[in-house]
Formats: sequence, structure tokens, C-alpha cells
Amino acid sequence: MRSFSLILKQFSRSVLLIAGFAFGSLSVAHAQGDAAKGEALFKANCTACHKIDQEMTGPALGPQLTEETDDKYLVQWIQNNQALIAAKNPKALAIYNKYQQKGMTVFSSLSEGDVTNIITYIREDWKKIQEDKAKAPAPSAAAESGPSEMVVFGLIGIIIIAFIVILVLNRVVGSLERVLLKNKDLLVEDALAAEAAGTAAIDARKAFIAKILKNKKLVFFILVSGTIAMGSWGWETLWNTNVHQGYQPVQPIKYSHELHAGVMKIDCQYCHSGAYKSKNASIPSLNVCMNCHKVVKTESEEIHKIYDALGYDPKTQKYDSTMAKPIQWVRIHNLPDLAYFNHSQHVKVGGIKCQQCHGPVQTMKEVYQYSPLTMKWCIQCHKRTEVNGKGNAYYDSILAAHDKIKKGEKVTAAVLGGIECGKCHY
Ligand code: HEC
Ligand code: HEC
Ligand code: HEC
Ligand code: HEC
Ligand code: HEC
Ligand code: HEC
Repeated sequence: MRSFSLILKQFSRSVLLIAGFAFGSLSVAHAQGDAAKGEALFKANCTACHKIDQEMTGPALGPQLTEETDDKYLVQWIQNNQALIAAKNPKALAIYNKYQQKGMTVFSSLSEGDVTNIITYIREDWKKIQEDKAKAPAPSAAAESGPSEMVVFGLIGIIIIAFIVILVLNRVVGSLERVLLKNKDLLVEDALAAEAAGTAAIDARKAFIAKILKNKKLVFFILVSGTIAMGSWGWETLWNTNVHQGYQPVQPIKYSHELHAGVMKIDCQYCHSGAYKSKNASIPSLNVCMNCHKVVKTESEEIHKIYDALGYDPKTQKYDSTMAKPIQWVRIHNLPDLAYFNHSQHVKVGGIKCQQCHGPVQTMKEVYQYSPLTMKWCIQCHKRTEVNGKGNAYYDSILAAHDKIKKGEKVTAAVLGGIECGKCHY
């Protein structure tokens, strides 16, 4: 036995060695760039459509770049995927068709060095994500996701085992009873005959139901399963009360983000400038639309709704405010009043892209609620997202205060932001 385990040990050691060499030579084959520079470029250019660990508009880039190791091809693809597709490169065509020919942006402004940095960053980040997953799996995940599926399956398993035990015990009790009856000289055959006569009188279905109802253990089992099923359904329902993920009301004008923000590439800021400056992103006034629609598509019925709402007469090109009747856009995202959410804090300070919370708006004909907007959603992101404190006056002041405290100097609430308007005012 000992020699066998020794052989096993040696074998696994050599397998590990070989794997190590293979991995080492693989990573040598990969282009090496500056991951920090790559991260900034990735966040600025790619996160609208890609995540490293999840499929979005485009593939999840972590696994994709583990599979696709031809860096020369990748650089060409990222710089100008349209050229590769036009040249009928088989790999490019395959991925293009796999994603319904959605088409990726051309990044001719990125140099080969830039792209190498991005690729390095993606591969390193993906490695980190996988390592983190391997290191810290259970506790936090369980705490964040309520009752885990494991628990439910475990319960069901226990119930099934309990049922089998009950069945077996039932048999044992039955045969014991029969032995007892025999000992008491009561003829088992008599009892059976009487029972047969009885069941003959009623029809077979009734007998079947009666038999089931008589089996107390089976009834108990059905009741317990029913309670658990109802319980978990109720639990799910309660958790999802007031969660409106996917909510997509019909809007009064057939305004399309896909056309304006996607095809025409109008910056979100053009219409939702509030998102960079204040708590609210705000819906643009129709005057913003008129910058173009005074002359664009003037015959369209939908555009005439804009004219009517503003009291604008396209023939005389004059506004009559007494005729105006504002458009009632249906609000999609809606936090309860008890939660304070500030756009500029996230978009401007945190540097988070609109799409990370609102999804690929630039591909939506009609906007829908992409994220659940639950407290869990807010908190999970806060736990994961690293804060970039460099060159941020707020964090500089916190660090300065920290130094003062260390030196034993006085720090007032004002130093910590206690006189900023937004801390006390909505
Ligand atoms: C407008 C959305 C969009 C943006 C922005 C975008 N991509 Fe893509 N990307 C896609 C889509 C969609 C695909 C799938 C192929 C297709 O439909 O053309 C894709 C595919 C890819 C692939 C797979 C290529 C292959 O053959 O395996 C890589 C790698 C990639 N993107 C990297 C990037 C990088 C790096 C950036 C940022 C510099 C970026 N993408 C920005 C949409 C985008
Ligand atoms: C030309 C103006 C315009 C541009 C550009 C634009 N939007 Fe909008 N957006 C609107 C209008 C008008 C509405 C209200 C009607 C609707 O929901 O479609 C709206 C609604 C929304 C909503 C839903 C608001 C709610 O009711 O909860 C979100 C989210 C949104 N926009 C995000 C974006 C993002 C992200 C971009 C950039 C990719 C963008 N918008 C670009 C005009 C614009
Ligand atoms: C930067 C210019 C620009 C702005 C700003 C703009 N649009 Fe448009 N919009 C266009 C163009 C160009 C088209 C027509 C595209 C085409 O030819 O089909 C269009 C098409 C439309 C259509 C489809 C009309 C039809 O019948 O096909 C609607 C509806 C519309 N816009 C509503 C709006 C609303 C509402 C706003 C303001 C929130 C707005 N647009 C702001 C340029 C603009
Ligand atoms: C960190 C997540 C997050 C990011 C990033 C984000 N939003 Fe929002 N957005 C929200 C939440 C949450 C609401 C609901 C706010 C409420 O009901 O008070 C919302 C609401 C909106 C609304 C509805 C009107 C309003 O002012 O509340 C619009 C329009 C909107 N967002 C556009 C944008 C645009 C454009 C960007 C990018 C410049 C953006 N958002 C970035 C989370 C986000
Ligand atoms: C996509 C990630 C993300 C989501 C989702 C998100 N946040 Fe944040 N939030 C951040 C980041 C990053 C910061 C830190 C910004 C900074 O100061 O650099 C932040 C900061 C904040 C702060 C300021 C904290 C402080 O120290 O002053 C508040 C308040 C806040 N978020 C509320 C919310 C609420 C409410 C929601 C959900 C409706 C939410 N956030 C969803 C990323 C997110
Ligand atoms: C430490 C908390 C705090 C800070 C910081 C703060 N305020 Fe106030 N502010 C208040 C309170 C409380 C009231 C209400 C006082 C009252 O009703 O008598 C108020 C009242 C006001 C009012 C009067 C509102 C009305 O209805 O009459 C204005 C305007 C105002 N603040 C503006 C500001 C501005 C601008 C800033 C930033 C420079 C600021 N505040 C910073 C706490 C604060």
C-alpha cells in the first residue's frame, strides 16, 4: 500500500511540473503590456459592450482571450474588425456571425501598444477573478443571495430519505402486526377476505383514494412537500415585491435610443446632462429635440406630437404657448423616497458608465429597466468597485484629515465635508 501511494505522489508531482511548464511557456507566448494603462483604456472604450467575466453586447473577454491566443489577430481585430470582416478572415467572420452581426466599433485611434496593454489587463484581471473565486467562495455569496439553492435541494433530499425510511418501517410494522395476529389465533385470511368483500362493493377509484388517505405517512409526506413548495414560492414572491427589472412601458412618442444614441451616436450628455452635474439625470425638454426636428422629419406623425406638445406650428414656424400640452413620459426607473441616489457621484466622481447600471441603452428601441435597483444591487457593486481617489479633492481632504489625526491635531466636521451643500440638502 505504501509504495502505491508513493507512486501516486510522484506521478501527481510530475503532472504538476509538466502543467507548470506548459503554463509558463504559454504566458511567455502572450504579449506583455502595461496592465494599469490597459485598464484605463478598457474602461474608457470597451465597457459599453464588454465585461471581462460576463457576456454583454459582445463576448465575455476573459474567457474569450483565454481561448483566442493569437495576439496578432486580436490586435488587428480590436484596431479594425471591419477590415478583417471585409477581408473575409474566417475567425472574424465566425465571431461576427455568432453575435448576429452586431458589429463592434472600429478603434483606429488605439496604437498597437495600447491594444497590447488592454489585452494584458484583460488577461490579468480574468486570472484575478478566477483566483478570487477559488479562494473565497461560500460565506459571502450565501449571505448575499438569501437562501441558497443548496439548502433547498438539501431539504428535499432529507425529505425523500425520510419518506423511504418511513416506507421501510411501515413494512416492518406490517409484518410484525401480522405475526401478532397469528399468535392471537385471529385468522389473517378472514380479515383479508372481509376486506376484499368490502372493496368489491365500492368502485376501484374510491378504494384507491381511501387507501391513500388511510396511509397517514403518505398524507404527511404530501402535506410537508406542499408546505415547502408554497413556502419557497412565497419567499420568492416576497423577495421580488416592488422589483421592476425589465419594466418597459409604452412611451407617448416613439422616441428610439437605438436610433439617436446608437446609430447617430448622440452623446447621452446631450440630453441627460444632469447625470454629470447633479442628483438627477433628468429627461430633456422637447426644445432639445427641436434643435434637429424643426427641420428633420417634419412630416412624421410622431414628430408632430412634439410640435403639438410645444404649441408649435410648422407652417408659420411660430410657438403659441397657450396651445402647449406637455408630453407625459412614463418614468421607468424609480427608487423609493427612502433611498438617496446621486448620479453625479457615480458618473462624474466614480467614473461609472451609464451602461453599467442602465444596460446597452444605445441598442434599445424602447428603454427598459435593466438592473433590479434593489438595495442588494447597490451594495454588491459597492463591495466590488474600487474607488479611484487620485486627484480627487474630496479624498485628498480625507487623507489630509487622517494625517492631522495621526499628529494629534484637531479635525472638525467641516474638514470632513460637513459644509458641503449636498450632504444636508436634496
Ligand atoms: C459597440 C460595442 C462594442 C465595443 C465598444 C467594443 N466591442 Fe468588442 N465586440 C463587440 C461585439 C458585438 C463583438 C462580437 C463580434 C461582432 O459582432 O462583431 C465583439 C467582439 C470582440 C472580441 C472577440 C474577437 C474574437 O475574434 O475573438 C474582442 C477580443 C473584443 N471584442 C475586444 C474589444 C475591446 C478590447 C474593446 C475596447 C477597445 C471592444 N471590444 C469594444 C462589441 C463591442
Ligand atoms: C436625443 C436625446 C437623448 C439621448 C441622446 C439619450 N437619451 Fe435617454 N432619454 C431621452 C428621452 C426623451 C427619454 C424619455 C423617454 C424614454 O424613456 O424613452 C429618455 C429616457 C432614458 C432612460 C429612462 C429614464 C426613466 O424613465 O427611468 C434612461 C435610463 C436613459 N434615457 C439613458 C440614456 C443613456 C444611457 C443614453 C446614452 C447612451 C441616452 N439615454 C441618450 C432622450 C435621450
Ligand atoms: C441631433 C439631432 C436630433 C435630436 C437632438 C433628436 N433627433 Fe429625433 N431624429 C433625428 C433624425 C436625423 C431622425 C431621422 C432618422 C431617419 O431618417 O429615419 C430622427 C428620428 C426621430 C423619430 C422617428 C420619426 C419617424 O417617423 O421615423 C422620432 C419619433 C424622434 N426622432 C424623436 C425625437 C425626440 C423625442 C427627441 C428629443 C428627446 C429627438 N428626436 C431628438 C435627429 C435628432
Ligand atoms: C450607479 C448606477 C447608475 C449609473 C452609473 C447611472 N444611472 Fe441613471 N439611474 C440609476 C438609478 C438607481 C436611477 C433611479 C433614480 C431614482 O429613482 O431616484 C436612475 C435614473 C435615471 C434616469 C431617470 C430620471 C432621473 O433623473 O432619475 C435617467 C434618464 C438616467 N438614470 C440616465 C442615466 C445616464 C444618461 C447615465 C450616464 C451618464 C446614468 N443614468 C448613469 C442608476 C445609475
Ligand atoms: C456600478 C456600481 C455601483 C452601483 C450599482 C451603485 N453604486 Fe453607489 N457608488 C459606487 C462607487 C464606485 C462609489 C464611490 C464614488 C466615489 O466617491 O469615488 C459610490 C458611492 C455612493 C455613495 C456615496 C458614499 C459616500 O461615501 O459618500 C452613495 C450614497 C451611493 N453610492 C448610493 C448608491 C445607491 C443608493 C445605489 C443603488 C440604487 C448605488 N449607489 C448603486 C458604485 C455603485
Ligand atoms: C450641515 C447641514 C447643511 C449644510 C452643509 C448646508 N445647509 Fe442649507 N440648510 C440646512 C438646514 C437644516 C436648513 C433649514 C433651516 C431652516 O429651515 O431654518 C437649510 C436651509 C437652506 C436654505 C433655505 C431654504 C428655504 O426653504 O428657505 C437654502 C437656500 C440653503 N440651505 C442653501 C444651502 C447651500 C447653497 C449650501 C452649500 C453652500 C447649504 N445650504 C449647506 C442645512 C445645511
